[in-house]
Amino acid sequence: MELDIFVIRRGEQVFGYVNSCPHAWTPLDWSPDRFTNMEKTHILCATHGAVFEMETGLCIAGPCKGDRLTNFPITVTAGAIFAQSDDSRGRDSTNSGI
Ligand code: FES
Repeated sequence: MELDIFVIRRGEQVFGYVNSCPHAWTPLDWSPDRFTNMEKTHILCATHGAVFEMETGLCIAGPCKGDRLTNFPITVTAGAIFAQSDDSRGRDSTNSGI
């Protein structure tokens, strides 16, 4: 199964989420790889403007307030991001330099 995920960094912390808004399940990015508001403080849904906390994925404003983005577990090791899907549990499957 193919899954569209994205990672977002805030300071030294990195978070992974599925690129799908819990309101209407559309992609969140308003242009390729652009996921944040202008201030880069929150994740912003391109479709109807829902606002999500980077650290938790909680929607704090918009039509799905109280819902959450789907977390995608990642780890950061020696500056590289490793994402792990359910079907590859036990081994790292993807990495990207940060
Ligand atoms: S699809 Fe994201 S707020 Fe409606």
